[in-house]
Amino acid sequence: MEQEINQLREQLQKQEKLASLGILSAGIAHEIQNPLNFVINFSKMSDKLLKDLTEIVEDNADKIPEEDREDLEDIVADLKENMGKIVEHGERAISIIRGILLVSRGKEGEFLPTDICKLVKEYVWLSYHAMRANQKDFNITIHENYEENLPLMMVIPQDLSRAVLNLVNNACYAVWHKQQNTPENYSPEIDVQVISKDEHIVITIADNGEGMTDEVKQHLYENFYTTKPVGKGTGLGMNITRDIIENRHGGKITFESTEGVGTTFVLCIPIKK
Ligand SMILES: Nc1ncnc2c1ncn2[C@@H]1O[C@H](COP(=O)(O)OP(=O)(O)OP(=O)(O)O)[C@@H](O)[C@H]1O
Ligand SMILES: [Mg+2]
Repeated sequence: MEQEINQLREQLQKQEKLASLGILSAGIAHEIQNPLNFVINFSKMSDKLLKDLTEIVEDNADKIPEEDREDLEDIVADLKENMGKIVEHGERAISIIRGILLVSRGKEGEFLPTDICKLVKEYVWLSYHAMRANQKDFNITIHENYEENLPLMMVIPQDLSRAVLNLVNNACYAVWHKQQNTPENYSPEIDVQVISKDEHIVITIADNGEGMTDEVKQHLYENFYTTKPVGKGTGLGMNITRDIIENRHGGKITFESTEGVGTTFVLCIPIKK
């Protein structure tokens, strides 16, 4: 009984931590939106000003020495490019923030007709490039196998992409971590497959990474359970992933894992008519 009470207390503390984390991140995301909008709007305005400036320069071309004119044109072109980048990346940041706000509000995502293979591919490579950005000397072979001519499927694309991203991030980490400990003759590999089967769409993500111990398997879906060092993992990924697949899409997530050999996750989502 005492043990049970302690366990419940611990669980409650974790839930509280989770709730305050959600509120905190929603608050931060919300506050960052406004200054970001300023950044984007002012760069768009500056872009217009640059156009005006170019026109003035063109009108007065005969008064400016040839040499200076070339320099001026180069500078204006560079400025234009920089403004474009500020807008592009600013908008990317805004869309990330929208994602955070949607998660923390627990708002029901919208089911949209989606090209699942394209979505999976996109997020597999997003994860790959993110990893390569941090570990330049590390590489993985990714095998992809997508069923051709799959029709569009009704899923919540924003959520499904988050699930795929977490699974591939985990796989990348597992192969990277294994290589740190067994550097010789090991070639890290990740296998991704999307097929349809018996009115279901089946997404498989397999790695030949470090695999899981029995203890990890037992706690896999618990909030804040992580074996990664601080800053590398929060231990929320698998819990969110299962919620997305099972509760939001009415599907099933299963896995097989052998310590030192690798891990395979299978997502099975019923095709919504
Ligand atoms: N493919 C995998 N191979 C080996 N271990 C895995 C794999 N996927 C998950 N794990 C184990 O399960 C734990 C929990 O995974 P989860 O995705 O929930 O959290 P995390 O990756 O540690 O942090 P984050 O919240 O950033 O996703 C991981 O810390 C890791 O120990
Ligand atoms: Mg994870």
